[in-house]
Parts: sequence; C-alpha cells; structure tokens
Amino acid sequence: MSKTAILEFEGKRYEFPVIEGTEKELAIDIKTLRGTTGMITIDPGYKNTGSCESAITFLDGEKGILRYRGYSIEDLAKDADFLEVAYLLIFGELPSKEELTKFHNDIKHESHVDEEMKKILDGFPKSAHPMGVLSSLTSALVAFNPSSVDVSSEEAMYNSIVRILAKFPVLVAWTMRKKKGLPLDYGDDSLGYVENIHKMMFKRPNKEYTKDKIVIDALDKLLILHADHEQNCSTSTVRIVGSSHAGLFVSLSAGVSALWGPLHGGANQAVLEMLEAIDADGGDTKKYMAKAKDKNDPFRLMGFGHRVYKNFDPRAKIIKKSADEVLGRLGIDDPILDIAKGLEKEALEDKYFVDRKLYPNVDFYSGIIYRALGIPTDMFTVMFALGRLPGWIAQWREMRLKGEPIGRPRQVYIGENLRKFKPVNKR
Ligand code: SDX
Repeated sequence: MSKTAILEFEGKRYEFPVIEGTEKELAIDIKTLRGTTGMITIDPGYKNTGSCESAITFLDGEKGILRYRGYSIEDLAKDADFLEVAYLLIFGELPSKEELTKFHNDIKHESHVDEEMKKILDGFPKSAHPMGVLSSLTSALVAFNPSSVDVSSEEAMYNSIVRILAKFPVLVAWTMRKKKGLPLDYGDDSLGYVENIHKMMFKRPNKEYTKDKIVIDALDKLLILHADHEQNCSTSTVRIVGSSHAGLFVSLSAGVSALWGPLHGGANQAVLEMLEAIDADGGDTKKYMAKAKDKNDPFRLMGFGHRVYKNFDPRAKIIKKSADEVLGRLGIDDPILDIAKGLEKEALEDKYFVDRKLYPNVDFYSGIIYRALGIPTDMFTVMFALGRLPGWIAQWREMRLKGEPIGRPRQVYIGENLRKFKPVNKR
C-alpha cells in the first residue's frame, strides 16, 4: 500500500508520495512541490534533504551502522582488502578471484603517469599544501587523458575507472615525495595494490624497499574505513560536478577540494595539531574542552561530532582499537594517543557533548596511526582522499548511469525589491 504525506496550506490540501528504502527509511517525494504549490523547501546544509536514491552505502546514525553494498564495515575491515572493497563499491559485488586479478592487472597496465605531469608538479613550492597539489594534478590528468567518459559504453567507463585507480596513487606518492625532496618513483607491478602505494610513497633512492606487513595491513584497513560514506560533503560535490556531465577526473578533483576543509576530511590533520597543542600545553585537556564549549570561541573539538552519527562512528571504534595494536606492534609509545584517549573519556562524560550527541568520528584517531606509519601531518587528508577515491567513483558512476538531472538547488531571495538605477553623478 503506497504511503502519502499531506501538506495543508492556506485552505488547500496537497498530497505527496512517500518512498521507503530497503532499510525502511522514509522520504517525502517533493518532485512536484513547486509545480503544485508554488512553494519550495529550504534546508541549509541539507540536514533533512535527500539528494538521491543510492544502493552503495547505508548509514544508520542512531545505531552507528555502516555498510558498503550490504556488507558491514566491521567484516570488511577485518576480512577484506582495499582493492576488493573498491571493486565492491564500484561494481556492486565482491569480485571472484579471477575478477580481482583481472581488475588489478588492468590497473597495473595503466599505472604510468605522463612525465610532462612532473613539470606541473615542479611549478609548486615545497610549502604548497599537498591537498592543493593533489587537486590540481588530478584535474591536470584530463590534459593527458582527454577522452571524457562515454557513459553509455561500459568498456569506456571501466577503462576510465581503472585509469584513475592506477594514476591517483602515483599522484599521491609524487605529492609527498616532492615535499620531501625525493625522486618521483614509479610503482612495482610485482607488489599488491596497497603495498605498491606504500613503496611509491616511502622507497628511499639508495635502499631496497622492504615490506612491513604490520604497516601495510594498517594502511589497507584505514583505506577501507575511508572508502565511502554515502552523501557526505565531498561525495555530494563529486555528484553535483558530474551532474553537469563534466568528466570523472575533474569531478574527483572537486571532491579532493571539498574534502580539504577542516570541518570535513581536513579534520584529521586538525585533530593531530590540536592534540600536539594540548601536549605542548602540558596535557591540559580541560582548557581545550572549555574552548570547545565556549560559544564565543570558534575552536571546536576536532574529530568530534558528526552530521549523521548521533552515536559512535563505527569507524572510530575500529581505528581506536587498531591504533593500540599498530603502535604496540611497532613498539611506538606516543603520548598523543594517551591524550586522545583522555580527551575522549572527558568529552563522553561532559554534559555539553552528551546533550549534543557528540562522539569521536573517523578523524579522531586516524592521524595517530598515520603518524606511526611515518606519514607527515599535512598528508593525512591526502590519505583520506586516497581511501575515498573508490567511493567517489562509485557514486559518480551510479549518478551518471541513472541519468540523474543536473544539480541546481533553488533559493529564497531576501535582497532588495525592484529599484530605479541612478547615474553616478546623481548618487
Ligand atoms: C567527516 O558527512 C560525513 O559522512 C563526513 C565524514 C565522511 O566519512 O565523509 O564522516 C568525514 O567529515 C567527519 C567530521 C570531521 N569534522 C570534524 O571533526 C570537525 C569538528 N566537528 C564539527 O565541526 C561538527 O561536528 C560537524 C561539522 C562534523 C557536524 O556539524 P553539524 O552536523 O552541522 O552540527 P552543528 O554544527 O549543527 O552542531 C550541533 C551543535 C552545535 O552547538 P549548539 O549550536 O547546538 O549549541 O553541536 C556543537 C555545535 O556548536 N558542536 C560542537 C562540535 N561539533 C558540533 N561543539 C564543539 N566541538 C565540536 N566538534
């Protein structure tokens, strides 16, 4: 029995269909609202507004549930690897061994980046933030791969997807090596996908690359945990840029830019800087808690709070546990981890945070592991982008294959009414 919602306004009654998702989420379909009522809705930040119907990722913010294509994040983080999760998100099913091998081989075949791209990289000062470099390089890739995706062709779409999954990690590695003054390395086809990323990032010119399983496994898990998160700010950006039929690479470049903000992916860098400031301040967490609660102070407790999760972010739970394991196995005793745990405990007992349902999010502990893996703080958000790449691709592909309309929100105008122009000598 189809459900409807009734709107009554100024003596008139309007009916709108209510749609129900596979996890029983309900939404009022207002596609005909303006045409039938002459009115629009308004919802800054889209806190109550759905932009699409999607089959990729399911979140339940109240219960702290996260699933990719129906598989729980806990299972995937424990038993899958990042490349098969990328395949799952993009194509909808876990790959067979043969499908995964072919996927990886197709990616290896595309893992060169035009040497001319190094001239663009050379144009950046070493002080440039890696997210700005990565966004620019991702956009510049179009110059060397001009064919924008022919969405009607599965083969063209697939080729574009393996191309960016192959080249983006090279750009990530080059971005970091440029800052460190290291030669720009290429991958090694004999390695696994994440192992190869680690080698490209960290191989020293005068030393053999030696794989550390603890490090590779930790990196692989972090990338899985960041791989998709339904219609977050950067994914919505990728979708809306792609909705104008701009190409995949430039849509991803826009996603990198949106992710950079400290309220979004940039929070993982801001968390580490906050924890280091607290450490430098003698570990005075109470001072920072007071700042976070002071409405006159713009400071927020970075890594805390979430638009959707009003319970624990399941990723934060997994990363917190992994931080203990990784630092323990690497024999690293990082006081920052203890400060983070102390801050979390205090916040979870503090009325301000409890009343607002503010819990640690994915960014709160991730930086502690990145640091233990030797990744510089200003590269943390680049690692987030590397993890989120398959999710962005999956969401862009879904939006284009469904033929979604160009994104173009309306507004309520609150400016001047009509007024007569006055020539400058009369003003
Ligand atoms: C990510 O959307 C996604 O899925 C994102 C992400 C993904 O995987 O893509 O999960 C990744 O971006 C995680 C979030 C990383 N950002 C941070 O850690 C930055 C710190 N957090 C906040 O800025 C904030 O919590 C947001 C931006 C995450 C969410 O903001 P909302 O949903 O707009 O909530 P709000 O600003 O309306 O806050 C509600 C109240 C306000 O207080 P009151 O006006 O009710 O008194 O909670 C307060 C806020 O001031 N508040 C905080 C706070 N977060 C919210 N107060 C202090 N410290 C904080 N961190």
